[in-house]
Amino acid sequence: MAANRKLRMGMVGGGIGAFIGDVHRKAAALDGQIELVAGAFDIDPEKSKKVGRELFLDDRRVYGSYDEMIEHEKALPESDRIDFVSICTPNHTHFPIAKGFLEAGFHVMCEKPMTISADQARQLDKIVSEKGLVFGLMHNYTGYPMVKLARDMVRQGDVGKIRKVVVQYPQGWLATALESTGNMQASWRTDPAKSGGSGCGGDIGTHAENLAEYITGLKITHLCAQLNTFVEGRKVDDDVNCLLKFDNGASGVLHASQISVGEENNLAIWVYGEKAGLEWHQEYPNDLWVKPLGQPEQKWRRGNPFVAEKSAAAGRFMRIPPGHPEAFFEAMANIYRNFTDTIIAKTEGKKPDEIVLDFPDVKDGLRGMLFLETLLESAKSDKKWTELKS
Ligand code: NAI
Repeated sequence: MAANRKLRMGMVGGGIGAFIGDVHRKAAALDGQIELVAGAFDIDPEKSKKVGRELFLDDRRVYGSYDEMIEHEKALPESDRIDFVSICTPNHTHFPIAKGFLEAGFHVMCEKPMTISADQARQLDKIVSEKGLVFGLMHNYTGYPMVKLARDMVRQGDVGKIRKVVVQYPQGWLATALESTGNMQASWRTDPAKSGGSGCGGDIGTHAENLAEYITGLKITHLCAQLNTFVEGRKVDDDVNCLLKFDNGASGVLHASQISVGEENNLAIWVYGEKAGLEWHQEYPNDLWVKPLGQPEQKWRRGNPFVAEKSAAAGRFMRIPPGHPEAFFEAMANIYRNFTDTIIAKTEGKKPDEIVLDFPDVKDGLRGMLFLETLLESAKSDKKWTELKS
């Protein structure tokens, strides 16, 4: 059914002055497979309507709330209603919105962190498997071709047994009390009822955790965490420092921060195995540094045929030749492409290919929440190690 038409997308969030919803709209449109047809874009119904008009949507499908959107979309003929919803709202709303759309039979693409508790994450996991629906989680950094190349080098044994992983995500934008100026993004991120128990950990620590587990294929088993709140009066952590143990015995260091003055989005990872090291920086995403034992280091560059030869998953997503940089929009588009192709395969009654199933999902969302709850527990504990129980 879906093979000869675009998938119909609805959106919750991404209203006036919002950040990530607009990135979703552009990324989802990149491959021409998805069409935005409906939305409840803003907590303010008037603003939602305004966004709908700016996007030339049918006013009848621009809603004042997500409840209204679920009701109306569900009642439309199957040939008109949305195929999936993208949830681009603050963290505390992800669970009720995702649950509502899943229960109404819609596929879901959700922003991270998936929920604000592991219990909510388990509930979503259960609903997704019971309903047989497709659930994507926007850990967009795993959409970068050079991250996929790194993952495949690990899988192919080029790195050898992994001994150490260092992953960081420093930012500096919350180095002052930006929330007291009325800044929308800062306000809800520093409100524990809206962000979840951990501020910096939930906002960007989960990206680092997800990236480390994706590239290495390892699972974090234990944490030793220290959380800081440097800005006076702030109610959530704004700085995270954490030691990690992985299930193969490897050690790790994860640090994330929103008070690292001068840093923008300095997400980076180093993976050290017995045979080679790997290094990737989000701010220079077209390069992967490979450092084989006893040999000069190599810089692998996105877009070259040798990248595609090494990693089909990376090759699938090199849209333009080397030297024309691809970055944030394309990485998100890559997540959308695999999510979309999975929906199409399922709609046609086919089993999606492994390469297509390569996108973060509800299980990654649950891992993220388990990581966050363990992070908070460890930070309060006097014990050196706290187990990350699955
Ligand atoms: P934002 O504050 O810029 O925008 C949130 C939008 O949601 C606003 O338009 C607001 O009116 C709307 N909204 C809130 N409650 C709503 C409701 N009940 N119904 C309809 N609309 C509602 O937030 P931002 O920065 O865009 O973050 C949104 C989500 O995306 C968060 O979960 C955040 O963690 C995640 N995010 C992910 C990024 C990534 O790289 N994957 C980057 C930035 C944010």
